[in-house]
Amino acid sequence: MNAPSYVQHARLKAWVDEIAALTQPDAVVWCDGSEAEANRLFAQMVEAGNLIKLNPAKRPNSYLACSDPSDVARVEDRTYVCPTHPEDAGPNNNWEAPAKMKDTLRGLFKGCMRGRPMYVIPFSMGPIGSPIAHIGVEISDSPYVVVNMRIMTRMGRAVLDQLGSDGEFVPCLHSVGHPLEAGEQDVKWPCNKTKYICHFPETREIWSFGSGYGGNALLGKKCFALRIASTMARDEGWLAEHMLILGVESPRGEKSYVAAAFPSACGKTNFAMLIPPKSFAGWKVTTVGDDIAWIKPGDDGRLYAINPEAGFFGVAPGTSEKTNFNALATLKENIIFTNVALTDDGDVWWEGMTSAPPAHLIDWQGKSWTPEDGKAGRKAAHPNSRFTAPASQCPSIDPDWENPVGVPISAFIFGGRRATTVPLVFEAFNWNYGVYMAATLGSETTAAATGVQGVVRRDPFAMLPFCGYHMGDYFNHWLKIGHQIEHAPHIFTVNWFRQDAEGKFMWPGFGENMRVLKWVVERSQGRAAAKQTALGWVPRYTDLDWSGNESMTQEQFERLTAIDTSAWREELKLHAEWFDKLKSRLPHALPLKRDLFELGMVD
Ligand code: OXD
Ligand code: MN
Repeated sequence: MNAPSYVQHARLKAWVDEIAALTQPDAVVWCDGSEAEANRLFAQMVEAGNLIKLNPAKRPNSYLACSDPSDVARVEDRTYVCPTHPEDAGPNNNWEAPAKMKDTLRGLFKGCMRGRPMYVIPFSMGPIGSPIAHIGVEISDSPYVVVNMRIMTRMGRAVLDQLGSDGEFVPCLHSVGHPLEAGEQDVKWPCNKTKYICHFPETREIWSFGSGYGGNALLGKKCFALRIASTMARDEGWLAEHMLILGVESPRGEKSYVAAAFPSACGKTNFAMLIPPKSFAGWKVTTVGDDIAWIKPGDDGRLYAINPEAGFFGVAPGTSEKTNFNALATLKENIIFTNVALTDDGDVWWEGMTSAPPAHLIDWQGKSWTPEDGKAGRKAAHPNSRFTAPASQCPSIDPDWENPVGVPISAFIFGGRRATTVPLVFEAFNWNYGVYMAATLGSETTAAATGVQGVVRRDPFAMLPFCGYHMGDYFNHWLKIGHQIEHAPHIFTVNWFRQDAEGKFMWPGFGENMRVLKWVVERSQGRAAAKQTALGWVPRYTDLDWSGNESMTQEQFERLTAIDTSAWREELKLHAEWFDKLKSRLPHALPLKRDLFELGMVD
């Protein structure tokens, strides 16, 4: 099981040998990241029944994977962060002592790859060689993971070349936890009822057992780029955030970049690929990333961001040419779909892709499906079904999306899914107020996290499931960063999801969000007007550009941006309860700000 001669890194080779001895695979395969390698794996998986090859005339070089029904989402209750002291993980993480957790994991990993090859997957989060990028190596027994990692990261031999003989890498160990004993037939989607997604921030390691699903198995994404990277960022003075990054270009050619955090499945991909209304002639929105941002202070006093990923692992349902034209265009070829429905002509479909469903489908569980089943409430695609797509195929991709120095950030936006209380948009008075708003962000839960829709939970900075350390320390880190940089971005809160008394959305969203985005960018440039309120700076009706929109009246807009002081007094009580949970490490500035807000909430 010798490594290829081009592998020069003794520590990496020793780790691979150690894991092979523990997990006892049939073979060790060092992935080179080539197209030929991917094609070989795709062909093997199709032959074995793990994947369906889609009709090449409809969707060239694309595949459908359908998972075990028990393995469809991230498993937050099985996700652990294991520093030595539980207080360092904080109440926002499940914790176990690292030595004890390693013992448990070693027991589970012992022999867990029998009957399967073990793949060694070197990957870079961020453009290879970028000063903001970092390298990981994932070991996995899942070929599905290999082909997904090839889209989601820069993967393969070039990464080993960059690593050289002693470069730093984050070891990421993954197994589906389904060994095959001699002669045993494999299943379509191997996984294990026992699942552990474990992070060891002090040694910067990830161990993931039992799930083949994206967020649990593609370890570069949530596990490395957020949980481990957030601890690296805390220690090294940067930010690893659950944020999309987009560019906004004015007709005069001025370019600004905005990073925005929304909890899972709040339309981040749609916002990142926004197409401005026709009346915004000359305005352009470009996409740098749709999920994660790594942000480091630059020498000029600004914050610079890269998208550490190379692909989109987006939620399919609800994505249509109307809601996200650019996403649909990105999905034309070279895509891996997971848990969507199969059409009779070998293409894919999901709820919301077209206004009327096809007359017949095979649903994500392999069963025959007709629109009658849909009317009876049976979904053809799982609500958390996904596409894995190369970012380079996105028509709105920003020309600088792979710029190794990153793009300068002018504004941060934080948004949750809130039916009431939170206005369409407001700007924080300053950095500390902005941190307060982000720290108390609330949102209704989504299928991505729990498989359950509709319950409100606090999701500070949209990082609750992804922060690899105590949330109170994380708030402190944000406060500190803002004071260290000379040109701190302006901070905004948005809520696209406010509803009226009849439960109807008050804001159309999608391309119309451009009106808010333009105001955000112009506020950051000191050019747009606003009125001062108890919460922050709120646009008046006349402060937004309504060209081409005849339907939003001033009265409707005022309801959409109204600050309901009694609702806010209730909200502030919830903030106090939330802060109480974090009190051992909560920065004093935040409860002080809460009290100031409360004093300001007078009718
Ligand atoms: C995601 C998530 O998959 O946030 O991006 O759950
Ligand atoms: Mn996400």
